[in-house]
Formats: sequence, structure tokens, C-alpha cells
Amino acid sequence: MEMNEILGLSPVIPVVRLTKIEQCCPLAEALLAGGVRIIEVTLRSDIALKAINKLSIEFPKLIVGAGTILSTKNALDAVDNGARFIVSPGVNLDLENNLDKIQVPFLPGTSSVSEMMKLLEKGFRYLKFFPAESSGGIEFLKAIHPVLPDLKFCPTGGIREKNAKDWLALPNVLCIGGSLIAPDKLILDKKWEEIRNRASWVSKLKPKP
Ligand code: 3PG
Repeated sequence: MEMNEILGLSPVIPVVRLTKIEQCCPLAEALLAGGVRIIEVTLRSDIALKAINKLSIEFPKLIVGAGTILSTKNALDAVDNGARFIVSPGVNLDLENNLDKIQVPFLPGTSSVSEMMKLLEKGFRYLKFFPAESSGGIEFLKAIHPVLPDLKFCPTGGIREKNAKDWLALPNVLCIGGSLIAPDKLILDKKWEEIRNRASWVSKLKPKP
């Protein structure tokens, strides 16, 4: 699956932090029941790789990606455990020098115009705009579009229900990412029904053509 297809799976990519392996199944079931077929598991807990592995094996309908990729090792570990795509908050030399080793679609993060230009030069067309709300928000991406019209974004970081639609309305936004569907607290409190309802709401947001 190419990056454009991955970003077209859902108007919102749930970005999650899993701390217990038992959270995997009910969370995946809630997302799928709500019509969301994609998940980004951040490498911000001890069990993240194990969770990616479990979700990939037990939920073939769910496209499982890995987030908070900070190094080539992170990327390779995630892919070894079944990640179908990887997401980073930014790009460092280690990642930059080893792009050819990463065998799945990679969504690098940036919030700077110079980096966007450099990534475009390297062939990237799809970027994560991070941290979206605190790096200039909707107005920033609106200003980027006429200057770098070949770039499409998945803004992530601080986006909540109240303005999700406004972000999605931008011509250079394919989808948004964030914890708004399954925030830490709902996962910790096992509020699977609430997560399913949020996933259903998200699925009804207008998908991008
Ligand atoms: C990420 O890892 O991409 C962000 O932490 C998600 O941001 P949010 O929790 O503000 O949605």
C-alpha cells in the first residue's frame, strides 16, 4: 500500500499510546466497529513493538503503523514487528542517511518551510505537519499551499474535534492525525464504547477524493 492510499483510509488517523498488551484487542475492535481501519501506535511505551506485532497478526483488516520513530533502529524494529507504515516527528541525520533501508511508506514530520523543501527534494510528497496547532495551525498550512503545491500533509498535534473539519477542508490536507479518537485516558479507563463512538463520528467526516 502506497502512502497516498494509507492516508486515504480515514479522515483521522488515531495516534495511540498503549501501555498494556491487553488494550490491543478491545481498542482494535472498537476502531474497526466504528469504521476506522488504520492505527498509529507510538513507540512511547515498553510494549509498543509487542502491541504492533499483536495488532498486525490478529487484525489483518487494520493497517497498523508505528509513530514516534526517532532512529533507523526504531523504524526497522517497527517494520520487523509488522508496521505497514512509519511516522516520525521530524528527521535527523540517522534517518536521512538510511531512507533506503526503510521498506514501508514513511511519513516524516516537520513544521519548517526549509525542511519541507528539503524533503520535497528527496522525493517526499506526503508529510506530517507537527506539532500542528502550536506551529502556526491552519493559517500556516494555508500559506504553504501556493508555495509548495506538490506537498500534501497529515497535520498532527493538538487537533481536537472542534476544528477537525476545518483542517480537513484545506486543499493540502489529506487527513489529520491525533489522539482525539483514543486519548490515553479513555484507553486506560477502558472506555471502548466511547472510542467506538468517536471512531464512528470520524468515519462520517468527509473523506478526501
Ligand atoms: C503524535 O504523537 O503525533 C502526537 O502526540 C499526537 O498529538 P495529540 O495527542 O495532540 O493529538
